[in-house]
Amino acid sequence: MKEQTLALIKPDATAKRYEGKIIDDILKAGFEIKAMKMLHFDKAEAERFYAVHKEKDFFRPLVAFMTGGPVIAILLEKENAIEDYRRLMGRTDPGKAAAGTLRKKYGETTRRNAVHGSDSPENAKKEIAFFF
Ligand code: RTP
Ligand code: MG
Repeated sequence: MKEQTLALIKPDATAKRYEGKIIDDILKAGFEIKAMKMLHFDKAEAERFYAVHKEKDFFRPLVAFMTGGPVIAILLEKENAIEDYRRLMGRTDPGKAAAGTLRKKYGETTRRNAVHGSDSPENAKKEIAFFF
């Protein structure tokens, strides 16, 4: 059955003009783009998007990073989209991500890691509703 997930291209990647390469990799991996938009998070929006991490020590720098430039939100559809897009992204730390993954190719550090992807059907639903 087809499934939907929410992908974000983060400010480090848009600053480097990597959005075209990332979208090309996503399409080549078999995902269909159902909706897409570029926006600039304000502080309250970034805090709301990453609310699950509000108790973490990296929350404030994460919010600062995510408000530092434009992001691109993409609604993706494919069989097994959530798990398959997480695999395409690679590990959170680009240094530990597998060869060929988006984070390995385009990420810099554990924070500045180029892309986001929903991690469960429940969060995918919430995150899709957040943007679309
Ligand atoms: P994401 O939510 O962005 O798809 O990433 P993820 O599931 O792989 O990682 P998660 O644990 O949910 O962390 C969310 C984002 O916070 C930043 N981060 N910084 N130790 C740190 O400085 C740290 N740890 C995480 C990253 O941007 C990470 O993607
Ligand atoms: Mg996460």
